[in-house]
Amino acid sequence: MMKNIAVLVSGGGTNLQALIDAQNRGEIKNGRISCVVSSNPDAYALTRAENNNIPTEVIRRKDYDSLSSYDKALTELIKSRHIDLVVLAGFMTILGNGFISNFENRIINIHPSLIPSFCGEGFYGLRVHEKVLERGVKVTGATAHFVNEICDGGPIILQKAVSIYSGDTPEVLQKRVMEQAEWKILPQAVSLFCEDKIIVNGNITQILD
Ligand code: GAR
Repeated sequence: MMKNIAVLVSGGGTNLQALIDAQNRGEIKNGRISCVVSSNPDAYALTRAENNNIPTEVIRRKDYDSLSSYDKALTELIKSRHIDLVVLAGFMTILGNGFISNFENRIINIHPSLIPSFCGEGFYGLRVHEKVLERGVKVTGATAHFVNEICDGGPIILQKAVSIYSGDTPEVLQKRVMEQAEWKILPQAVSLFCEDKIIVNGNITQILD
């Protein structure tokens, strides 16, 4: 059965675009993006979805008075759409266990560093690349992983390394990490999931080929 994918976004949505482009090239085998959910009504990601006739929803954390009521509303939304896989593609709202526990090993996140470096609380978006440059590491990259109750601590699916060059700014590095790593490994991880090619044992994944 073709798997239904929900993509959760908050901003520009270039990772969503990479998924849409991969789908249009036939590279998301056995899956299709059936809705885009944004935490932000002004996210450009919503325009990308509309341009591709993908149904959209907006759900804002601030419209709920507790994390548990937000988790419950998001869970109901995802369940009502018969979603098999939730993809966090630049989704900047913290999800509670009331949501995560309903979708064990069925939520994939893309993180812009090589986990377990430069991840966890406070490491998101451009900040990750600022910290990478401050520390002076010579290699960074991106990680596609399943989401569990530990922030950026779930089973790793795919990683790809990216070089750092002298003179890099956070913006330049962010773009290189996206182009060389995120936009490649996120669609690959999503396709592997949809083809049932990811076996999870505790925190270790095995990729079937
Ligand atoms: C991406 O670099 C993504 O890896 C990062 O935010 C950016 C979103 O860009 N996500 C996180 O930092 C999650 N902790 P996009 O909206 O253009 O896809």
